[in-house]
Amino acid sequence: MQLNPTKLGKKSHWDDVYEEEKTNFEEFGDEGEIWFGQDAVDKMVEWALENIPPSSNPMVLDIGTGNGILPVCLAEAGYVPASICGIDYSRASVELAQRVALGRSVQGLTFREVDFIHGKVGSMADPTTGNETDTWDLLLDKGTFDAMALYSSNDEAPGKLDDGNNHPTNIYPSRVAQLLKPGGYFLITSCNFTEKEIITHFTEKETSLKYHSRIAHPQFTFGGKSGSACCTVAFRKVIN
Ligand SMILES: C[S@@+](CC[C@H](N)C(=O)[O-])C[C@H]1O[C@@H](n2cnc3c(N)ncnc32)[C@H](O)[C@@H]1O
Repeated sequence: MQLNPTKLGKKSHWDDVYEEEKTNFEEFGDEGEIWFGQDAVDKMVEWALENIPPSSNPMVLDIGTGNGILPVCLAEAGYVPASICGIDYSRASVELAQRVALGRSVQGLTFREVDFIHGKVGSMADPTTGNETDTWDLLLDKGTFDAMALYSSNDEAPGKLDDGNNHPTNIYPSRVAQLLKPGGYFLITSCNFTEKEIITHFTEKETSLKYHSRIAHPQFTFGGKSGSACCTVAFRKVIN
């Protein structure tokens, strides 16, 4: 699922972006870019409320959390902050997300500096049971898989496509399956791939993930063809 590499596939790019956004937040209170807009955030939160509500006490992991707006909005919608973790491989993102949450008076969220593909997310105490858990009821991705698709194994030669199965987008589905509890959900929003491409990629080799549902986005028509600028798809891990 790789696309021609760009700077959006490089960690150094995101470090620079979030360092700047941290400064902007400190100076002007600007929370930073909301990828794909607030509407995409609202739709993902609404989907969560309908399918895995706060009353079911889910443990939630946001993959590539950026400014942490998705965890913050979930907490504002009634999810227990102590059950939500946002991870990002950029330390500056983690620092920004912590500040944005406090700026909104949302306390108790966890943000960690972790590479989703090669790192260890680690465990977190489930506030309902008190037990440590390293698997999750809901995994979220808004724009992170898209960014990984632009990765280049050779930072010196952007534009050169990685040729191997070790490309992050190829490892990604099995990481999702490892980290989800049986019956858990994975909800992803992508603007780089069609709904069909996302469904195929996540179910073709990773057979424990099954398509569950989709979120409708506004349709546009161009050149006689109609489609959406973004797609949001939910998968569920099979219950053994
Ligand atoms: C397009 S931004 C989306 C940020 C956030 N999800 C949002 O919607 O605002 C992509 C994010 O993925 C993060 N990212 C990319 N590759 C990652 C990886 N391997 N592990 C963790 N985070 C990663 C970047 O640092 C960046 O924050």
